[in-house]
Amino acid sequence: MHIIVTDDDDGLSRAAADLVARVVAATPDAAIVLATGATPMGLYAELAARYRDGLFDPSRLRPFQLDAYLGLGPDDDRSLYRWMKTAVLDPLDIAADRVARLPGDAPDPDAACRAYNEAVRAAGGFDLSVLGLGPNGHLGFNEPPVAPDAPTRAVSLTEESVESNARYWGCRERVPRRALTAGMDVLLAARATLLLVSGTHKREILHRIVDGPVSPAAPASYLQRAPDVTVIADRAAWGSDADAVSAG
Ligand code: PGA
Repeated sequence: MHIIVTDDDDGLSRAAADLVARVVAATPDAAIVLATGATPMGLYAELAARYRDGLFDPSRLRPFQLDAYLGLGPDDDRSLYRWMKTAVLDPLDIAADRVARLPGDAPDPDAACRAYNEAVRAAGGFDLSVLGLGPNGHLGFNEPPVAPDAPTRAVSLTEESVESNARYWGCRERVPRRALTAGMDVLLAARATLLLVSGTHKREILHRIVDGPVSPAAPASYLQRAPDVTVIADRAAWGSDADAVSAG
């Protein structure tokens, strides 16, 4: 794993945008997973600013949704697709028909997950996946414990994830308990992975997944064995130990 520690969240977003821009310059039609959550929002704002300034060309990108709450359609304000659309697709003028969705409202979620995996295969796998880190070490909604070959599927959220997502719903009672998630199999096979980690509340899990054993109990620890993984953490998440490459 290549680790970059930035002074703050702005530095994290700029360093992340530099990496995404490099991948997209080399592979303009990159198949790219775009996580929602708080952490990548600065990255998406930075990419949108570069796009407006003519410095970033997303016109051929092939975005993939990372996860979705079961039961919520794409037009529902609370759906992760809607979040992705508002935060990154609309600002980059990426039309809906270019996005591989995980449809939380599919009548047959298992068939929808198989269709998603088929789309990943047809795209030749992910060129880049942009991920956040759950406080329980999850990637997408691959909750612990999970096997490295877990496929794209319907899952139940752990209490820790419900608690962590309650801030987006007002209270924990409103958080959906079931979701669809891109599988560990397709995420770990991505040609490049960018894991973004911000804030002191992620420090313990960050060091567990970077320095600890590879374990089903910490899904992101499998990234130790994945190709070309870059972790960008702010100083709050990493701590003061400077045993990593620092970026302003
Ligand atoms: P966050 O979520 O970026 O909102 O902290 C990360 C995650 O739970 O995967």
